[in-house]
Order: sequence, then C-alpha cells, then structure tokens
Amino acid sequence: MATVPSITLNNGLKMPAFGLGTYGLKGGEGIAAIKKAIDIGYRHLDTAFLYNNEQEVGEAVRDKIAEGVISRSDMLVVSKLWCTFHEPERVEYACRKSLENLELDYIDLYIMHAPVGFVYHDDETVWPKNADGTQETNDVDYLETWRAMEKLVDLGLVKSIGLSNFNSEQVDRVVNESRIKPVSNQVECSPMHNQKKLTAFCKERDVVLVAYCPLARQQLDARKEVQDIAAKYNKTPAQICLRYLVELGVVPIPKSANEERILQNISIFDFKLSKEDIKAMDSLNTNERIVKFSDAKHAKYWPFGLEF
Ligand SMILES: NC(=O)c1ccc[n+]([C@@H]2O[C@H](COP(=O)([O-])OP(=O)(O)OC[C@H]3O[C@@H](n4cnc5c(N)ncnc54)[C@H](OP(=O)(O)O)[C@@H]3O)[C@@H](O)[C@H]2O)c1
Repeated sequence: MATVPSITLNNGLKMPAFGLGTYGLKGGEGIAAIKKAIDIGYRHLDTAFLYNNEQEVGEAVRDKIAEGVISRSDMLVVSKLWCTFHEPERVEYACRKSLENLELDYIDLYIMHAPVGFVYHDDETVWPKNADGTQETNDVDYLETWRAMEKLVDLGLVKSIGLSNFNSEQVDRVVNESRIKPVSNQVECSPMHNQKKLTAFCKERDVVLVAYCPLARQQLDARKEVQDIAAKYNKTPAQICLRYLVELGVVPIPKSANEERILQNISIFDFKLSKEDIKAMDSLNTNERIVKFSDAKHAKYWPFGLEF
C-alpha cells in the first residue's frame, strides 16, 4: 500500500499531501474507482456539491469503513460551497445538503469553490446565465460568506475551512480579517501553470496550496522535455509532473477513473527529481490556465485579473 506524507495545517489538523480528484467519477464505476483508491492508500478525497458525486464519495468511504479498511479519522474528505450559496444565510443549508449527500457526520475540509457569487434560483441551477450568455453573478462579499463558513466549524459540521480559486489579494484579505484562518487555497497548478508566486505567498501565511488539474488534463504527456525526464527515472510523464509539484511544496489531487493510473499517480514518493530536472520542468511554465471562469469575468470578485 502506498504511504503518503502528511502536512500539519495551521489549525493543528493533518492533511495527506496527495489526494484523489473526483470530478467525473460517477455511478457504480465512480464508486469502484474511489474504493480502489482507498485500498491503494489514498486518504484525501476531493469532491464538491458541483460535481454531483458527493453520494458516490460518501458511499465509497462508508463501505471501506464497514469493511474495516479505514476508520473515519484516517480520511480527509473535502467538499466545496458552490457559488450560488454565497449569501451568508444559504451557507449552512448548502453544507448540510453536502453532508446529506455524503451521509457522513462531518466534512473534514469545506472550501469556498470560488470567490465569485452567482445568483441563486434553485439548488439545481448551478450555472445561472444572463441573457447574453455570461454568468449571472452577484456582488456578495466573499468575506461575508467566509464568516458564515466559520460558524460551520463552531457547529461541528466541518473540521477545517479553506479557499479555492482565490488570488493573492483575496487570500490576504481573508487571512487578515477572519476569526478562523483558511487552512488551504485550492487552485489550478501544474507544470504549465506552476503557481510558484502564489505558493510562496500562501506559505508565508501558513496556507497550504492544493493543486487541481495537476496533470494539466494530459496536455503535458506528449512533451519531449517530460518524456525525456520520465525515461531517465523509469517513470511515466504523469508521475514526473506530480513529483515536480510535490518538490514545489504543493498538494496534487489528480483525478483518474482507471485503477492502473490511480496506483501510478500515488507512486511518486520513492524518488526525487534532480535540481537540473526540476529546472527543465520549470521551463514548461506558461501561466496558461485551463479553468478560466471567463463567463464571470465581469464579476466584482473575479480572481484571475492579477498576476497571481
Ligand atoms: N477547485 C476547482 O475549481 C477545481 C477545478 C478543476 C478540478 N478540480 C479538482 O481537481 C481534480 C483534478 O483535476 P482534473 O480532473 O480537472 O484534471 P487532472 O487531474 O489534471 O487530469 C485528469 C485527466 O488525466 C487523466 N489521467 C490521470 N492519471 C493519468 C496518468 N497517470 N497518465 C495519463 N493520464 C492520466 C485522466 O484520465 P483517466 O481518468 O482515464 O485516468 C483525466 O482525463 C478534479 O477531479 C477535481 O477534484 C477543482
């Protein structure tokens, strides 16, 4: 079984330094993949209300507890407050809805999916649109949303709270003005957009950077630089990308539905990249994003207008 190091968060709780992304893992196949991941040694699972698969994640965790493979306290289950629930009075409702979906007593880490709020119509309308096709956003201040998330910790519904898709100024504002500090900021981070500046900025504030799309959704597999390094270490291009991110001090959460790749991805704690190979991987950085939230570009709190 693969063993993964843990990071101590700013509230004293632990986070396994590697996790499974679950976007797209649905139905029986999704549950089987997540259960296999737990068997292999994954202890950090990333889901969201948006992914419509909290049921699957919860079922896999509950089954593995029942089988005696894990206990609840071994796992870090992450879910996310979706953008239509940013009004403070909707936050506890949204969290309880996620808990109901998961059928768990608490969420380990509940993060704000993005700093931008969307207009609420009903629970099913997750991407409300304006007549011109852009996102129907609102100006709810993410700090007000955050204060309502702090109450979820007080209520014992969640153990830790964090951020996602926040830029440096937004992270700083929450850190400086909150009662409970965010433990993490989950952002796009791969060799293509390596987030060195945001990682250093977050680190200074004791906020862990969690890397989504760590494989840049396979865009780097065919790159000669990555293939050459992979051949040198007898590893795959995906493993080189993930190991590089570990060397940068971030927590990758790659998604795979395939048992062999689920195992391959976590098998990166038995080697280190040389300084020279890290430098070669640095050269892949273009700061291009896959997830741009461009339909919300007009929003007051759209995060991607800054360098980092
Ligand atoms: N907070 C946010 O706004 C946000 C946004 C996006 C994603 N996320 C989270 O981050 C997770 C990861 O991001 P992602 O799923 O978008 O992208 P990703 O992990 O970079 O890439 C996933 C893709 O790579 C393939 N893959 C996985 N392992 C591989 C390997 N060893 N070799 C070759 N291909 C491999 C997968 O296919 P197979 O399944 O067929 O292996 C899938 O097509 C998501 O699942 C989600 O939990 C969060």
